Amino acid sequence: MSSVSESASNTASKSSFGAEHLAKAVQTLGLDKIQRHILICADQTKPLCCSKEESLEAWNYLKKRLTELKLDQPTEIKPGCTFRTKANCLRVCTHGPILVVYPDGVWYHSATPSVIERILQEHILGSQVVEEYVFLTHPLTHDFSVVQEEVKDCKSV
Ligand code: FES
Repeated sequence: MSSVSESASNTASKSSFGAEHLAKAVQTLGLDKIQRHILICADQTKPLCCSKEESLEAWNYLKKRLTELKLDQPTEIKPGCTFRTKANCLRVCTHGPILVVYPDGVWYHSATPSVIERILQEHILGSQVVEEYVFLTHPLTHDFSVVQEEVKDCKSV
């Protein structure tokens, strides 16, 4: 086999090898069942919105409570789940920890463990935004065709 065809063969086998692992990750993490995604500023390279210690305390609390409340995995009675991501910085850089819930697009400031508990109980479980800690609400559209039309409009300008 020539080196070019060997290379193509290796690429193909690596590709299918990766696809199996990716499919397993989708299943294990329940990526296709995500209803909400929470991102929080934590473990910052440059801690500006709060101290690194405060941000890590918030992140660890969020992870622990999502697990305890069984919100992080789909179950038989609850097919959707809430995904979480530790962002190094959400670029707001004041009044942290900063936390955002998508697709709702609700941005929270001062997301300490006690505020996170309220966000989980009232917003995630109760669908009631914790207004006193919200500084912006900007929901993302669920309709991908609307996004595609907007992109087309931008390109035609
Ligand atoms: S350091 Fe927290 S948002 Fe930038």
